[in-house]
Amino acid sequence: MSGPKPVSEKSIVTLLRERRVGSRPPFWFMRQAGRYLPEYREIRSAVPDFLTLCYSPDLAVEVTLQPIRRFHPDAAIVFADILLIPDALGQKVSYLEGSGPRLEPTIRSTRDIEGLESQGILDHLSPVFETLKRVRSELPTDTALIGFAGAPWTVAVYMVEGGSSTQFMATRRWAASAPNEFGALIRVLTDATVEYLDQQVRAGAEIVQIFDTWSGLLPPPAFRRWCVEPVAEIVARFKAQHPSVPVIGFPRGAGAMMIGYGTATGIDGVSLDPTVEAHWAADNLGDDIVLQGNLDPSVLVAGGLALDQEADRLLREFAPFPHIFNLGHGIVPETPPENVAHLAEIIRTWERPVS
Ligand code: CP3
Repeated sequence: MSGPKPVSEKSIVTLLRERRVGSRPPFWFMRQAGRYLPEYREIRSAVPDFLTLCYSPDLAVEVTLQPIRRFHPDAAIVFADILLIPDALGQKVSYLEGSGPRLEPTIRSTRDIEGLESQGILDHLSPVFETLKRVRSELPTDTALIGFAGAPWTVAVYMVEGGSSTQFMATRRWAASAPNEFGALIRVLTDATVEYLDQQVRAGAEIVQIFDTWSGLLPPPAFRRWCVEPVAEIVARFKAQHPSVPVIGFPRGAGAMMIGYGTATGIDGVSLDPTVEAHWAADNLGDDIVLQGNLDPSVLVAGGLALDQEADRLLREFAPFPHIFNLGHGIVPETPPENVAHLAEIIRTWERPVS
């Protein structure tokens, strides 16, 4: 593939390892592959369901590369989903048009947890590893490849609720009333996630991101127990195998509970949701942590002057810190692709003011 050159050789990896800032921040976009792209919808309409797409390396490679060809970001993220782990554990996962994922049967007791099949998950997930291998061989050498998993709390929420929810009451009640029981589910997911991320790196991932989309639901002691501790354990076990592979966390919606999150978990970078200010994050998350984010996805839908002004504000506010430009949450389906191309151009042509 040809196109404008990113800032330097694997600029995101270098930034995360050495905290060195270049003339402009490297960038990629959460959910950069997906339904806002017509070429994605075309492939998606030709498969019976979303999981078939995730488990078909030919198609998953193509879909991973689609946004790379259009926008030349500094990283690709492998096309997969955080709910492949429950699927691999034997809980049936399906995605219904318009109403999001469904997981059956729900996991709500010790007996349900014992029924999960932890053996053989890597076989089940092997198409993802094949996708990573092939994407790595097709990517420009200066484009990094990101692997990912959901954090145990966020994946557990879907497993217990059986899908998306507004209150997540079944999970919150179980975690509060029977923490030792619920903790067994978190343990299963922690172990599975360590194995999964390890294999992703062996297959070619150069960075991994851990998505804790629902970490903002919990009061501080529960946040520490169900979000911080499991992620810290995953990072410690992962780093024992892959000390130089950077890990990015995403404690979405955690607000002031994020104070010290970088230090407590051992991550190298933190992806910030749109509510967090750059200087607050730099002051509170831990020494030397790389900040990623955090454009509001609705501004990318809006485009025009709103996008120009907001992109400029973020570029300036994050400029004093090691920064990966990204959104504060995933690109939504109604986003015009030309707005994404425009944002990529703004970032690519921006130059750090000389101070
Ligand atoms: O480009 C990329 O970002 C790579 C692929 C990716 C997907 N999901 C593809 C996807 C990644 C990194 C994810 C992460 C993910 N999945 C998260 C964490 C990040 C976040 O957004 O908070 C979560 C919570 C999920 C679970 C999930 N997957 C839900 C709730 C849904 C349904 C709602 C929706 O957005 O459609 C999905 C489906 C899904 N995952 C789609 C895609 C492209 C759409 C499915 C389709 O094409 O029919």
